[in-house]
Amino acid sequence: MTQRVFITRPILEKGIEILEHAGVDVAIGQPDGDAPIERGAILAGLRRADALICHLSEPIDREVLAAGERLLGVATYAVGVNNIDLAAATELGLPVSNTPDVLTDATADLTWALLLAVARHIPAAHRFTAEGRFRVWNPVLFLGDDVGPGGSGHPKVLGVLGFGRIGQAVARRAQGFRMEVLAHDPGARAAIEESGLARWTEFEGLIARSDFLSLHVPLTEETRHRIGERELRAMKRTAYLINAARGPIVDEVALVRALREGWIAGAGLDVYEDEPRLAPGLAELPNAVLAPHIGSATRETRAEMAAIAARNTLAHLRGEHAPQVVNPEVYAREAWKHRHAEGRP
Ligand code: NAP
Ligand code: GLV
Ligand code: GLV
Repeated sequence: MTQRVFITRPILEKGIEILEHAGVDVAIGQPDGDAPIERGAILAGLRRADALICHLSEPIDREVLAAGERLLGVATYAVGVNNIDLAAATELGLPVSNTPDVLTDATADLTWALLLAVARHIPAAHRFTAEGRFRVWNPVLFLGDDVGPGGSGHPKVLGVLGFGRIGQAVARRAQGFRMEVLAHDPGARAAIEESGLARWTEFEGLIARSDFLSLHVPLTEETRHRIGERELRAMKRTAYLINAARGPIVDEVALVRALREGWIAGAGLDVYEDEPRLAPGLAELPNAVLAPHIGSATRETRAEMAAIAARNTLAHLRGEHAPQVVNPEVYAREAWKHRHAEGRP
């Protein structure tokens, strides 16, 4: 019987082509890329699916995974896997794969775009110019902050929380801006010191010393609300917070207060605590630059992510070890072997 892949919502064509070329059927649950998919539609789609490709916006919990009686694996169209119950997947014999590395540069670039945009008031300056309000060169128009040494002659400090793939790529870009880079990542102390890109700093020091604090940790129970009122109050009043990781790492209600009351100077955000909703007041703040979770959104990167998700899916279907599996321990489990045994549903 032809195997069937259930894709919750559209991915770029390159991925679909790889799947169809391999002779598997592809069903897309919600073809409108602008609309979410109902949980019920995911559950229904999984009843007949041999593999799942999901998006980061969909909770793939134990109940969802268990609905896939025929399921052989899950490929998420993202690097972050916080929306998937990995323990349940492993227990149920389901390999889970993601799309790391290929999106590192695009996400680091977007991080920098937000950093520069908020420090130099680019969105407001664009509106001002496009609306015909630019009448004469004015020395105090849209005064922002130096990112490099600039007028002060002193390097600014970039703080990187999470020195993984994206954190390192962000730190690498900071060399061109002649910044002093500090990083905190409990498991990467030696890697930070050996990288030549950053100096290791305790968490408290990172918060207190950064002129720009950029978040690149995954969302876990440990990192949820890692940046809350206490941390925002401990930052410099002139500092900027950049979050292109996951919304719930920051207490967004506290952040709105921090931006409104001047505990910090500004924020550049790609992600939100309760996406796509924004905390009350956030949208009206003049010192926040907001993007709709577009970190990896370049044509080349999103196409390659689709190809990676498709190739991982083919491995899931064939019972081969998926190249980007995040729970490799699953392959030792009877539950995985059982799913590939003869006579499965
Ligand atoms: P990664 O290579 O796994 O890097 C994450 C780093 O954070 C790892 O070194 C990890 O250490 C470290 N870490 C974990 N807990 C920490 C803590 N409490 N304090 C400090 N460091 C901690 O992942 P990545 O590829 O760079 O991606 C990072 C995250 O970015 C993803 O999880 C995703 O949520 C987000 N992201 C967002 C977008 C977007 O569109 N905005 C795009 C891509 C990714 P260990 O390995 O020791 O745990
Ligand atoms: C995007 O947020 C990702 O995790 O890939
Ligand atoms: C600005 O345009 C300058 O020439 O300084």
